Amino acid sequence: MRYYASAPGKVILAGEHAVVYGYPALVAALNLRSTACVETVESREIEVISDRWGRALFPLEGSREEHELFPVALVARKLLSESRAALGLRIMLSSEIPAGAGLGSSASTFVATASALCAALGLEPDLGGIREAAMEGERRVHWNPSGVDVEVALNGGVLLYRRGQAPERALLSSPLRLVLGFSGVPKRTGDMVKVVAEFSKQSPEIFSVCMESIAGIATRLAHSLPRGDLEESGWLMNVNHLLLTILGLSTAQLDGMVAACLSSGALGAKLTGGGGGGCIVCLSRPGEEERVSEAIRGRGGEPLVAEVSLEGVKTWREG
Ligand code: PMV
Repeated sequence: MRYYASAPGKVILAGEHAVVYGYPALVAALNLRSTACVETVESREIEVISDRWGRALFPLEGSREEHELFPVALVARKLLSESRAALGLRIMLSSEIPAGAGLGSSASTFVATASALCAALGLEPDLGGIREAAMEGERRVHWNPSGVDVEVALNGGVLLYRRGQAPERALLSSPLRLVLGFSGVPKRTGDMVKVVAEFSKQSPEIFSVCMESIAGIATRLAHSLPRGDLEESGWLMNVNHLLLTILGLSTAQLDGMVAACLSSGALGAKLTGGGGGGCIVCLSRPGEEERVSEAIRGRGGEPLVAEVSLEGVKTWREG
């Protein structure tokens, strides 16, 4: 029997980085997913095969910590030890989400993996257990993760998320399409989180003004988007981008793509996720996505039109 699960990637609409410090972030699941397929095997090892990172074998304890796929093995080890099963595992991974783009590819992979593993090992697939196991992987990849990526991969939809609290769902009145622009520069979120930690030490007063302002933006956007007020929503995203720039998270290329999107008629644009590379997210009037995509291309970025998806993690089995 093969056990499958898939989970969505995400885009942060407002509040990245501030969410690490306990402020709210508004995050949306995308119709781009990662999928995990799990089989139990006799040999007492964890084999991980990924369309992106190749194949690796991990023992049930210790070693190979530097390998890109090691965090997946950590998720598997946690659930194997909970199940007390004397088994090995084969985990096959694929993803539609670009890596290092700030679109939640790692969290969606960990959530899908944890979910498929719970099914394969006969563990009760409750969201809390899947969340805990997925965070094992996230903590390895990111430095001090807020948990926002894992939460939206579990639940789907648009969430106002605050660290350690149950997320509030924002219900959109109509489907929402967003234009993403990938700079082509992958970045490590943990390094960018450290940039902000350094800023907070150097300039604590400016840091706290930025944090309070970003929190206000995320909360207000959680009302303006469901109301369908695209003008106000776009403006809030623009202000959020400026605040992230003050914190040292933007780059000339990200700023260039944001400016080009706004000149092409977009209502709002900002860097999304860790910054320092990765992606921008852009809000445009319905039907204007192609014009905005062209503006991103003109600045050397890769555009991607994605839809907000209501579907969180889902599991199935075959064979
Ligand atoms: O993984 P990314 O690049 O989408 O960033 C996640 C958002 C941060 O707020 C920068 C980090 C976090 O853990 O919330």
